[in-house]
Amino acid sequence: MPLSQRNLLDLDEFGRDDIGLILDTGVSMAEILSRQIPRVPTLRGTTIANLFYEASTRTRVSFELAARSLGADVVNVTASGSSIEKGESLVDTLRTVQALGADMVVIRHRDAGAPYLAAATLDCPVINAGDGWHAHPSQALLDLYTVRTRLGRLEGIKLVIVGDILHSRVARSNIWGFARMGARIVLCGPPQLLPHEVTRFPGTDGLVTIEPNLDVAVEDADVVMALRIQQERMEGAHLPDLREYARLYSISEARLARANPDALVMHPGPMNQGVEISATIAYGNASVIEEQVTNGVAVRMAGIYLLAGGSAEAANGQ
Ligand code: CP
Repeated sequence: MPLSQRNLLDLDEFGRDDIGLILDTGVSMAEILSRQIPRVPTLRGTTIANLFYEASTRTRVSFELAARSLGADVVNVTASGSSIEKGESLVDTLRTVQALGADMVVIRHRDAGAPYLAAATLDCPVINAGDGWHAHPSQALLDLYTVRTRLGRLEGIKLVIVGDILHSRVARSNIWGFARMGARIVLCGPPQLLPHEVTRFPGTDGLVTIEPNLDVAVEDADVVMALRIQQERMEGAHLPDLREYARLYSISEARLARANPDALVMHPGPMNQGVEISATIAYGNASVIEEQVTNGVAVRMAGIYLLAGGSAEAANGQ
């Protein structure tokens, strides 16, 4: 079965079948990555352009590894050291990489909507690698993959997302993705960082609720996902006191004890250790934070492969 979408812009456009297809294909890609030579020639002759207008470690490196593992050529364009520094517009840069032969574009941009402009400008598929506060769909897919791999299901699980929901593109994409797969999502954080409109995303059908008290929110949770406090996106005095924040919203041993015994701790990274999460929890038994990073390569391979026209059946035989 092929993907029904031409681009990966956000998971609001993806139904259960498409998300399931990417997760299943991710399993085939993880098998490739487990081989002694973790590489297939499937996309030989294909060029993927990574346009990163904003800082990234995990996403940029894993998209590059994913493309190379599929045999594709990769070109990296960053704001620093390219003609973007000379004031070249986004559209001109996009048209330039297309003229240079890009067959797919992965884009991270500080402005929400930039990947949609890219999709409207280009003839090739576009993957959103994070746009402003808006969306980070490949992060949500790797989070879904990690939970499904660990717990064996997504339907009916209770996911708590705690932290700076307001500025979090990870939270928004995860709300779409986990709700689409039938999970219950509880959002927790300081009231000024908890936008109520995210509980009313179309099609999420009462699956998303808000609980400002973390001790209450984590009761019987299957997954507790901490989000980074995004100091760089704070305007005004959203969060005057990080110590008070840590007291109320940091994931601690005591809080985790209120969740299900096999509950997973997740964080998209980068972490502010000692603020939203302690090192003990981040590197403890319940943590799957490093698995999230590892799984990101297989899931991004799946996304690239399917957008390039591959099918789940063919992926199995790679
Ligand atoms: N999770 C995430 O997007 O991390 P990077 O900013 O390092 O890519």
